[in-house]
Amino acid sequence: MGKVLIIGAGVSGLSAAISLAERGIKSVIISPFPSERAQSVMAAGGINAINTKVGDSTKQHVEDTLSGGCDIAGREAIEGLCSSAPEIVRQLECIGMVFTRDEEGELARRAFGGQTYKRTCYSGALTGKHMVSAMVMKCRQFEASGLIERLLWTDFHSCLIKDGKAYGALIFNEATRELVPMYADAVIMATGGQNAMFGKTTGSTTCDGYAAGRLFMQGVSLKNLEFIQYHPTTIETYHKRMLVSEAARGEGGRLFYEKDGKRVYFMEDKFGPNGNLMPRDIVSKSMYELGEQVFLDVSFLGRKLIDERLAEVRDICKKYRGIDITKEPIPVEPSVHFFMGGIAVNNNHETNIKGLYAVGECASIYHGANRLGGNSLLAAFYGGQVAARSISHFASEETEKLRKAGETKSKFPVMYIRDMLAEDMNKYLGIARTEKELLKGREALDFYLDAASKLNYDRNVLPYFNYSLQGILVLAKAVLISAISRKETRGAHFRTDYPERDDNYAAASIISFNDGAYDLHYDFEKKFEK
Ligand code: FUM
Repeated sequence: MGKVLIIGAGVSGLSAAISLAERGIKSVIISPFPSERAQSVMAAGGINAINTKVGDSTKQHVEDTLSGGCDIAGREAIEGLCSSAPEIVRQLECIGMVFTRDEEGELARRAFGGQTYKRTCYSGALTGKHMVSAMVMKCRQFEASGLIERLLWTDFHSCLIKDGKAYGALIFNEATRELVPMYADAVIMATGGQNAMFGKTTGSTTCDGYAAGRLFMQGVSLKNLEFIQYHPTTIETYHKRMLVSEAARGEGGRLFYEKDGKRVYFMEDKFGPNGNLMPRDIVSKSMYELGEQVFLDVSFLGRKLIDERLAEVRDICKKYRGIDITKEPIPVEPSVHFFMGGIAVNNNHETNIKGLYAVGECASIYHGANRLGGNSLLAAFYGGQVAARSISHFASEETEKLRKAGETKSKFPVMYIRDMLAEDMNKYLGIARTEKELLKGREALDFYLDAASKLNYDRNVLPYFNYSLQGILVLAKAVLISAISRKETRGAHFRTDYPERDDNYAAASIISFNDGAYDLHYDFEKKFEK
């Protein structure tokens, strides 16, 4: 094996690089920003790993993950994920990550939505940040020995594919402003979700879905695009939606609205004492149906607990909204948080193109129709390891030279279209969806795609924003087509015109792009899971 190209420098990309290096395989990480700016650092909540001392088991973690995902994710893949979790936490500790501990000195765990037991390990309020820091330190050791190379200010343009095999990628170098082909024996996509497609979300605007969109146009199948997670507790700020971590409800925080001057604890009324910690799809849907301003109260937990365990929530509310959560409730609304859908991969994280892998949020594998809190860092880390293991078994072939792809030169109001897209995606792909609205969304996308093909590029914006536009628009249209097709309500896909779950759709949706046509089918045979 010569070298592997890893597109993306967050947890999943770093995990793949470290795991490859441990096997003596060289990798090059491509990223416009340092890992410290990856969306992974925003993951405040934690990472799930069972605590057998309280009766929890891998089997229970598997069942919770499967049922939280509404029974359309593959059991075998989830079993691999959950059974590796305790060892992953141990490995993270070994590379220097400090987890919060309880009074007995054991790993502290918090309750997150949809969990039968408390199983979310955390590192203060900065789990993702501390995880990335520890992994970057580990990467540096391998950089010193030449097994990992990190190239900053570089953007993915497209994959080099010939005869159904990936040979590398075309990379845009922001410093030299050149498109450079980089050849590799395997390519791992670790490019995150599609947040920028929706404008303000809890995630990073650098995650725009472009890479998935471009790969889709190059023949890579996508999966479950219609499942978009709305996190129930976020607050509006100027630039983005800030997350009020589920940890706040895990520690006992209560959701309510006011009626005739009295508090109504609607989630507890509807689902019992654990109502506030139902999976996110259920909480967000309940809030949407309520149609009232909902508040989250943690003040009764006391300043000591809040300072110790909810410091980030405390600081965010104070900084962005002037709210002192030790004294007053937080007005919260659901917002786009996570994408369960993405690049279709099998249990080895292979796509339908040989030599092309996908890991982390850009891949769709473990979360079905709704992800449980604390499973995303786990899946990102684990997915990187699985891809690396799989690549180490992958026979190396001679890399073919591909001609540098041509770029259309032009002028075009790219940022205007991106803003319009974000507005439309929120309008037509909100928590509740109907065929009528989804069709309007698809129509809007056709308009933007048509405009994008006719108009010229905008010289006032970075080249990446120009060439990425078409890929993002194609992906957005694929999301709409997936949502139109699934005529049922399941997990994060809430159709008011089809409000019930329907077994005719009890499978992952797979979408492919063939000569400009979007072909969708449901994977009842779970072809991709084996
Ligand atoms: O609410 C949260 O802290 C989010 C965690 C997650 O998405 O896993």
